[in-house]
Amino acid sequence: MASNVSITPWEAEAFVDYDKLIKVFGTKPLTDEDLKLVESIVGEVHFMLRRKVFYSHRDFDEFLRRYARGERVALYTGRGPSSHTHLGHILPWIFTKWLQDKLGLELFFQLTDDEKFWHEHRYKLEETNSMAYENALDIIALGFDPKKTHLIIDSEDIRYLYPIAIRVARKITVSTNKAVFGFTDSTNIGMMFYPSLQIAVCFLPSELYGEPTMVLIPAGIDQDPYWRIARDIAPSLGYPKPAQIHNKLLPGLGVGGKMSSSKPETAIYTVDDIETAKRKIMKAYTGGQPTAELQRKLGGNPDSCPVFKMMEMLLVEDDAFVRKHYERCRSGQILCGECKTIVAELVAKFLEEHKRRREQARDLLPRFLLRNKFDPPPIKR
Ligand code: TYM
Repeated sequence: MASNVSITPWEAEAFVDYDKLIKVFGTKPLTDEDLKLVESIVGEVHFMLRRKVFYSHRDFDEFLRRYARGERVALYTGRGPSSHTHLGHILPWIFTKWLQDKLGLELFFQLTDDEKFWHEHRYKLEETNSMAYENALDIIALGFDPKKTHLIIDSEDIRYLYPIAIRVARKITVSTNKAVFGFTDSTNIGMMFYPSLQIAVCFLPSELYGEPTMVLIPAGIDQDPYWRIARDIAPSLGYPKPAQIHNKLLPGLGVGGKMSSSKPETAIYTVDDIETAKRKIMKAYTGGQPTAELQRKLGGNPDSCPVFKMMEMLLVEDDAFVRKHYERCRSGQILCGECKTIVAELVAKFLEEHKRRREQARDLLPRFLLRNKFDPPPIKR
């Protein structure tokens, strides 16, 4: 499945055929009906939904209906701490925070220092573990509610996950693992076991609350392979199937490819100083023409421009501003240099505020750790 398309959790392009992914992964496109449902329940529609940055789902509508009926539901998302946080990671978290604010939901946030240690051989475990704490500062800086947001650091909080993962692991064969994730005989057995840990969190709220609790997972479409397995096995383990809402991937600032830690020059990190961030944007690949003259004559192509996408997918809520900018680019009224300067300023503004909040986050961290708030679920149920 995932092995023969250009998206897996570890390898993903940005300008892929997202409609095709819906077919290959067997998800549903987010429709105008779904947006009406959001409007009727939440009272507004986030710009990432309006612009179809979040564009595909499974049971998002069912999740909202359960919420509206007063049933217990929760949010789940995560991060593999292989590097500092970049703006691509922040994208689904901004939307997740909106859902938490609007619906008052608890959020389980997994930091997979084990996954990144198993997957990326250049790291020591203490490095991925300390990066989990660095990434946690970014999560906190976004303003999640400490009472309702529970961080799980795999290597330290395994006792919360293990009783569930044991049951999950028995349901996943090596052949499923190979087909879904593209694992081979030379994949280490840590990675082979890892999916049971990412899946375990789907069921953790049901265990902690002692009642069936559907989770909604806002995350990039690259994480979908896990949820396919999770949904297959949920009924036989007595849990509700997890719902998903999938975002498209913010492109990196180079040619093609998602914003990714494997290409640091094309990613903007929250720890980049403002000048570095601006410089990366000023050097970015764009959808522009080779010369200013051609650009004025033919116009640029914002649809394949990572600089425009940063504005459209992440930084600017105002639809009229984005639409106008799009049209000015298309018609050649704005050149790439001017556009880059605008986006560089937007990024600088975002980073300044984020950095300030990130520093304050250190003191808040203990209030976010799951282990400080819940006992591990009992094995018997
Ligand atoms: P990771 O660390 O690769 O990614 C964290 C989240 O960021 C999303 N993402 C992006 N979104 C938009 N544009 C991009 N360029 C971009 N790059 C990454 C990912 O889709 C993800 O939502 N195995 C996971 C960790 C994890 C997890 C989870 C993620 C554990 N449980 C539950 C999501 C939901 C990982 O390595 O994510």
